[in-house]
Amino acid sequence: MITLSVNGQDVSYDGDPTLSLLWFLRDELGYTGTKFGCGEALCGACTVHLNGEAVRSCAVQMGDAAGKKVVTIEGLDPHGDHPVQRAWRALNVPQCGFCQAGQIMQAAALLHATPNPTTEQIHQAMSGNICRCGCYQRIEEAVRLAATGV
Ligand code: FES
Ligand code: FES
Repeated sequence: MITLSVNGQDVSYDGDPTLSLLWFLRDELGYTGTKFGCGEALCGACTVHLNGEAVRSCAVQMGDAAGKKVVTIEGLDPHGDHPVQRAWRALNVPQCGFCQAGQIMQAAALLHATPNPTTEQIHQAMSGNICRCGCYQRIEEAVRLAATGV
């Protein structure tokens, strides 16, 4: 039996330990804000926090999530009011929205670790999150805005 914390709640899982965390979150718990993009840790659509670090949930097996704390976009802030979410709304960042939960989780982890990132640090942290709509400029501006605490 695998136990872990997801968005502050203790949950358990009694299946294949090689199942990816992404499918556990989406199919077993119904946290569908976390998206499936590539399934190969290449796009960032599935980004969640694992013990506070941004990870690709498609590449984390349930066995490796045992005993850890997972936060998804649904758990980032109880009212959807995390500074990153506020900045995203203020600048109307999303286009289709598919990549955005992953972008926000990546940005939130960056700002938690580095509250005032340089442009280079923003580029480095966000470069693995692909946006097919090309919202990169607004994403960068929103990360900068979120760093001010909006
Ligand atoms: S779906 Fe996980 S990185 Fe693309
Ligand atoms: S907003 Fe469409 S993929 Fe990023």
